[in-house]
Amino acid sequence: MPRATVSPIDPTLLEPVLRPRREASLLPREAFFDPDVLAWELERFFEHSWVCVGREEDAPDPGSLFTATVGSESLLIVRGEDAVLRCFFNVCQHRGTQLVTERTRASNGPLICPYHSWTYGLDGRLRSAEHMSDTPGFDGASCGLTPVPAETLGGWVFVNVSGTAGSLTSYLGDFPDRIARHRTGDLRRAGRREYDVLANWKGLSENFQECYHCPTIHPDLVRVTPYRSGRDDETHGPWVGGPMDLAPGCTTMSWTGVTDRPPITGLPAEDRTQVHYYTVLPNLWVSLHPDYVMTHTVSPQEPGRTHIVCEWLFPQETMAADGFDPSDAIDFWDTVNRQDWEACERVQRGIGSRGFRGGRYSGMEDTIHWLAALFARSYLEGRIVRADQVGIEIELGR
Ligand code: FES
Ligand SMILES: [Fe+2]
Repeated sequence: MPRATVSPIDPTLLEPVLRPRREASLLPREAFFDPDVLAWELERFFEHSWVCVGREEDAPDPGSLFTATVGSESLLIVRGEDAVLRCFFNVCQHRGTQLVTERTRASNGPLICPYHSWTYGLDGRLRSAEHMSDTPGFDGASCGLTPVPAETLGGWVFVNVSGTAGSLTSYLGDFPDRIARHRTGDLRRAGRREYDVLANWKGLSENFQECYHCPTIHPDLVRVTPYRSGRDDETHGPWVGGPMDLAPGCTTMSWTGVTDRPPITGLPAEDRTQVHYYTVLPNLWVSLHPDYVMTHTVSPQEPGRTHIVCEWLFPQETMAADGFDPSDAIDFWDTVNRQDWEACERVQRGIGSRGFRGGRYSGMEDTIHWLAALFARSYLEGRIVRADQVGIEIELGR
């Protein structure tokens, strides 16, 4: 049952979101504008969930590391001498200095605090702390970096800041089954773009899951994928989404819709004519193409501002081939991304107007109604729930 006291939004405003799609309302404006709602989301939806912070290849060698921010916490993801990736809070146990400020660092020995040079091993243990020997009771063995649960899946690194989300696989439910055929763990990054978008992170997530807008704002995209071809997969995890068809004769998403790149090895025939789009809460969007995988990772900065990292992953053998050039895919999606961001920024500017009286969902928007209902139920429960636990009948397909 909903626990009304935990919701950051009045439950009576969420009830209309949780009606069947034909009767449902949009998320209330507080969800898009209220700093207290965002603070609550960062704690309950991000710090208490498994959040994607990067790829394993971001820290490839012993001693290499990258930093990430989840909710209010700065984190350090380090590959140890034993090749294991570990996550720690990015803070020295002496006087609390932030240890690393760079986004990434190549292999460079132990972690040395820039303030008084306390030195930590790659496993987080305190190795040396000068001038502490006359401090009674000082126990270096208990002054290691504070660990954060970290796990990898399909090449991605996930962390759970609160340590309360159970295992990664129990959190993700059946999502690993959706990505297995595309062998995402074997793929490597060939491109990365970062965007600062003046829109709420949930509005951006909703936009990613509907193609009602495609004929209006994505003329190149609708040539390679019929905009009404999307379906929803059955889901038993914190995710929604499903496939769209490629247009006849098309083999990928690019300006031309065709490519010389081979499909991902072992991909079943039906996946060679489809692209699968998944939103995994809270912060990962995965787009599975026949020959590459695109991801967006989403980091809310303010109620109306979101940082998005978009990456393009390809099979290593494709990248090693003579003349490998991913720019058709990257430039295509970079253009589509920017079209989407502009639309979402317009929504963000308009939805707060006192002249906006509501809004209804079309038959093309049942996935985003599902997503809005998932957010609404998650507000009421105080944590992200599975999409099949929203508590309303969802119409699969469109
Ligand atoms: S704060 Fe890190 S060594 Fe002093
Ligand atoms: Fe779009």
